[in-house]
Amino acid sequence: MKEWTRDERYRKLEDATAEELASLKETVENSRYRQKYHIQPSTGLLNDPNGLIYFNGEYHISHQWFPLGAVHGLKYWDHYKSKDLVHYRHDGVLLKPDTTYDSHGVYSGSAFEFEGALYYMYTGNHRNAEWERESTQIIAKVNDSGQVEKILPPVILQPPAGYTQHFRDPKVFMKDGKLYAIIGAQRANETGCAVLYEAARPEGPWSFKGEIQTALTDFGYMWECPDYFQLNGKDVLVFSPQGIESKGNQFQNIYQSGYIIGELDFETLEMTHGDFVELDNGFDFYAPQTLQDEAQRRVMIGWMGLPDTEYPTDAEGWAHCLTLPRTLVIEDGKLKQKPHMNLRRLRDNRETALGYANKFLKQLHPYEGEQYELVIDILDNEASAIEFHLRASKDEATVIRYESDTQLVKLERFDSGRLPTPVEGTSRQTHLDTPLRQLRVFVDTSSIEIFCNEGERVLTSRIFSKPTSNKIKVATDSGQVYLKMTKYDIEGANQDD
Ligand code: FRU
Repeated sequence: MKEWTRDERYRKLEDATAEELASLKETVENSRYRQKYHIQPSTGLLNDPNGLIYFNGEYHISHQWFPLGAVHGLKYWDHYKSKDLVHYRHDGVLLKPDTTYDSHGVYSGSAFEFEGALYYMYTGNHRNAEWERESTQIIAKVNDSGQVEKILPPVILQPPAGYTQHFRDPKVFMKDGKLYAIIGAQRANETGCAVLYEAARPEGPWSFKGEIQTALTDFGYMWECPDYFQLNGKDVLVFSPQGIESKGNQFQNIYQSGYIIGELDFETLEMTHGDFVELDNGFDFYAPQTLQDEAQRRVMIGWMGLPDTEYPTDAEGWAHCLTLPRTLVIEDGKLKQKPHMNLRRLRDNRETALGYANKFLKQLHPYEGEQYELVIDILDNEASAIEFHLRASKDEATVIRYESDTQLVKLERFDSGRLPTPVEGTSRQTHLDTPLRQLRVFVDTSSIEIFCNEGERVLTSRIFSKPTSNKIKVATDSGQVYLKMTKYDIEGANQDD
């Protein structure tokens, strides 16, 4: 793998020549792993979703972007617009690192509406002469002619006393007529937390209200990308803590993303809450952000990737994609994530098969494909364990295994094809709360998103299989399972193509 020097990583997009960009684009376009219906970078590296909002009849989706290669370098915000959250059009760079405050990266942030105008708040990442990090929080406003104007100086010029420069990713929300920004922070004692600021107007002044007081006082060394919202009468805090040890099936990835549900008192900032629960049980999910859709549903989009991990596409000049949008609801005190209803609009060419599988690997239908939605309804299950082999061929398969006794769902990517490195185990597993009734699986060229029992659990992963690994098979360990399988082809969602 190419070693990137600091100068190369902090090179601006504007300094690259047209030939250099064209050649990089060509390499990227030749990648066999390019996705068909997920948002992915045209070149370079994508990470966190940023600035998600439904505003004036349109969705805005931006993301962290280093354009010049598959490394975490100088970050921009690249921007997409969408009418329905699932079909999208590329709109180009929204925010670039062109001030002293964000000279080393326009880091993550959010969008909000105020008095009919669209605003953003994001972290300006600056490195001083000693290469020490200096974090500020900056407001930008979309003016009447549609230009994004940064309002300088930053509204928050430094972290409050008692916190380090790991201070970033403001998520702005409105509550009782006031603006709040929740920000990811690190205490001076190097533990992670989230803090709250308040303002009457976007330009400020923004005043420090304090730290959200949770029971998680020693829970990782940094909380990235916090998000707060109310859902079904509860307060929900979502964040991505770094430095959590794995525990049984939990916290298997390098960094986590999860939530706590409870009650947050905005006067004392005390939050009573249940356990921290991981949002996704797959391999590749991090730094999600939420928005409200046109019907006020709470919707989440994540980064389908992890920091500090190399991916098979790195050598092809690009990395990562965003997840599909998921609608959040609280049912029985638990957060459920359902594929957003508009994803049905991507469906094409339906094929259905009714049948059963037993211990002899059984093909219910001669399905083939690399991009599809598969709905598996379990009509009756007498099997001790069921295995679904997707993206399967003679030598490859991505295996979803369900063990009936313990309601265990396991995703095995040992034989999926090429793997991200370091390989932190090749399976992820989780116990369902109820017996498996349904799997809704979205397969794209190099990813799989598995929704179990209408959002009880989700497992999201990149898979780098050969194009010829395109079969679907079902088998059981013993006993029979009766199934209905419905497969929809997906034609693509990028309206620029
Ligand atoms: C999370 C993160 C954020 C930061 C951004 C920089 O992946 O580290 O905390 O703002 O990425 O790209």
